[in-house]
Amino acid sequence: MAEAAPEEDGELRAAGLRLSVTGEVATVTLARPERRNAMTGRTWRALAHVGQRLPSSVRIVVITGEGPSFSAGIDLAMFRPGGVEGETSLMDRIADGSADEAELDAVIAEYQEGFRWLRRPDVVTVAAVRGHAIGAGLQLALSCDLRILADDAQLCMKEPALGLVPDLTGTKPLVEAVGPNRAMELCLTARTVGADEARELRLAELVVAGDQLDGAVADLVAALQAVPREAAAATKELLQGAAGRTLDEQAAAERRAQAGRLRALAAQSARDSAG
Ligand code: CAA
Repeated sequence: MAEAAPEEDGELRAAGLRLSVTGEVATVTLARPERRNAMTGRTWRALAHVGQRLPSSVRIVVITGEGPSFSAGIDLAMFRPGGVEGETSLMDRIADGSADEAELDAVIAEYQEGFRWLRRPDVVTVAAVRGHAIGAGLQLALSCDLRILADDAQLCMKEPALGLVPDLTGTKPLVEAVGPNRAMELCLTARTVGADEARELRLAELVVAGDQLDGAVADLVAALQAVPREAAAATKELLQGAAGRTLDEQAAAERRAQAGRLRALAAQSARDSAG
């Protein structure tokens, strides 16, 4: 198992993260259990760096949390005067007028990069959620392609209850999973959804007993690895684009993708016969 390089390891530790890479599988662990894996701006920047520096061998990324919660969302210290120790307080800068609209936009866009890369077609991303996934924690789980929940999972889009909106790229996958009306109900009541309801609402692909979570993730990872990676990447891209295309456009996209696959398989077969 490869751990992160020492300089990266320091950055990750300071951000409350751990990264391990075993062959084709990277596991990112939210690792501030004493704060229920609450996340800060530093966490999201470091997450973005994980995506940027992912070894090319990796085709599956598992995101998980240490301790009883997946993540309690944003570190609430970010809203208090002074903010989080060691990090510039955006709230202080807004309050004293030193952060203008363009800077706010740029900072939030930077935070969002920590979540956006999980949609990359060359990796399949899996969230393994036990306990609470609140606010930014739920948005992180929603950013993954697949979610496996322990039966004690509790999901909550809490932002509106705190006077905020969910802004870490979670609104689109939420609407896509549950539809606009249910998404509105969940966000505008900020109610907590248990594991069984989450499965019914298609917020989870699988719910298992807490002591089965690691095994279920391992089984899923093995099943994903059994499919050739290039075919998986092309299929993920095709499925991601489906909702935004007409049937004609999607049919054309399927033809293009299949032509690429057929050419690659033919080239492979020619190499195999030559060798
Ligand atoms: N930020 C900072 N610290 C947090 C935290 C958070 N989000 N969540 C928990 N902690 C800390 C607690 O303060 C506590 O610290 P102490 O031991 O020093 O008292 C420690 O973690 C353990 O927490 P609890 O004792 O509360 O643990 P619990 O198991 O009883 O409850 C919980 C867990 C339900 C997650 C509860 O801690 C909680 O409700 N936390 C706040 C959740 C929240 O409101 N998050 C913000 C969501 S909105 C968002 O994320 C905004 C955005 O994206 C823009």
